[in-house]
Amino acid sequence: MIPALTRFAFIVCLAFIVAFIVLANSSVELAISAGISILAVPLVYSYINLARLRRYVLSDTIEKMPLPSGFWEEVFFKLQRLVRNLKQKIRTIEQQHDHFIEAFQASPNGIIMLDESDQIEWCNSIAERFFGLIFKRDVMQRINFLIRRPEFIQYLHKRNFEDSLLLERMGPNSNLSLMLQAFPFGQKRHLLLVQDITDLQKADAMRRDFVANVSHEMRTPITVLMGFLETVQSLDLKREQQDQYFEMMMSQAQRMKSLVEDLLVLANLEANTLPATTAVIKVETLMALLKNDAEALSQGKHALNFHVNSPINLLGDEREILSAFGNLVSNAIRYTPDIGAVDVSWRVNEQGQGEFSVTDTGPGIASEHLPRLTERFYRVDRSRSRDTGGTGLGLAIVKHIANRHQAQLVIESMPGRGSTFMLRFPKERLDS
Ligand SMILES: Nc1ncnc2c1ncn2[C@@H]1O[C@H](COP(=O)(O)OP(=O)(O)OP(=O)(O)O)[C@@H](O)[C@H]1O
Ligand SMILES: [Mg+2]
Repeated sequence: MIPALTRFAFIVCLAFIVAFIVLANSSVELAISAGISILAVPLVYSYINLARLRRYVLSDTIEKMPLPSGFWEEVFFKLQRLVRNLKQKIRTIEQQHDHFIEAFQASPNGIIMLDESDQIEWCNSIAERFFGLIFKRDVMQRINFLIRRPEFIQYLHKRNFEDSLLLERMGPNSNLSLMLQAFPFGQKRHLLLVQDITDLQKADAMRRDFVANVSHEMRTPITVLMGFLETVQSLDLKREQQDQYFEMMMSQAQRMKSLVEDLLVLANLEANTLPATTAVIKVETLMALLKNDAEALSQGKHALNFHVNSPINLLGDEREILSAFGNLVSNAIRYTPDIGAVDVSWRVNEQGQGEFSVTDTGPGIASEHLPRLTERFYRVDRSRSRDTGGTGLGLAIVKHIANRHQAQLVIESMPGRGSTFMLRFPKERLDS
């Protein structure tokens, strides 16, 4: 490429030579005009190229501009390369920015970025849901105008962000417990991280309830047992009286034993996360076993009917299935007054699902209790249930066993109209 100064010198020399040649042959005016005309050529060339450059710059398509030949070629080429590199850099930064946003959006936690005046610079959709924010509407609004909880405003105001803050009854249905913490970053800006700890709180409450319930259930028989022991020890009782006390002590010990056994069964079921096995369970044989146990429990006080309406057998863990079915049958007998009836049946419904159902003519259960029946230790009528030896763990065990067999526990009941407890098994659990 010829240097610009050399080009300039060349054109000036050319202008002088042409001017001299014209001067030698003609007048001074003509020589000056010829010299000026030659000097004007690069100016016109530059003007045309600058006009083209202007057109491409204004339409933001400078990279597409065809390169001129000559002096401007190099300039335009470098300009195009600069613009192309800059645009590429911007695209890369935009992509990185999008990735960050996508990552923040994928987070299960709420994220809010605040500037130095606590104005929202950005928040993800989880934070929008937690606090009822709409990013497009609330961007650059002060957060304390949008989250009005006094404890939150105090937390922001104190500016001591080493601790986290628990906000309860939050979210669209006011049923979320949120743990929030602010982290400083950049120049006096803050990142608010918000975690939904509703399930943790619930699990914690359940654990506390569970310990309280177990202690309570154990304390009663232990107190009674100790009372009897003291009586037997301190009083000089006759043989028959002693036998009577021992019998009562035995029944309390039995109660504790069955409680501990049920707790162990539950713990084992909970610990076992694999689905139940798929051994063939002969329903006829199972029903015969259930019938025997039911007759022994009822002692002829109820009308018991057992029907096997389908020859199709069940696939599952026989011990678990016997325990679940047995729990439902024993409940029906224990909660149905004498002379009542209990119907137990097995059938395959129109959708090809297996249904084991137990229907009784007992007192029935009010609808508000139905969703809670499978909670551990939940009893509709505590005193009555305790009379019948119940600890409130039976249906919790049934529910676990049902889950392990992908079965559904369906309860239909109305006070005064008896109850139906049904276990519905999917086709895959039937031996076709
Ligand atoms: N067939 C039924 N009729 C009326 N109430 C029932 C029936 N089955 C269960 N219930 C109610 O549901 C409650 C929970 O039943 P569940 O089987 O879990 O516990 P339980 O029978 O009290 O004790 P457990 O089964 O551990 O010995 C019972 O206390 C009882 O109030
Ligand atoms: Mg029970």
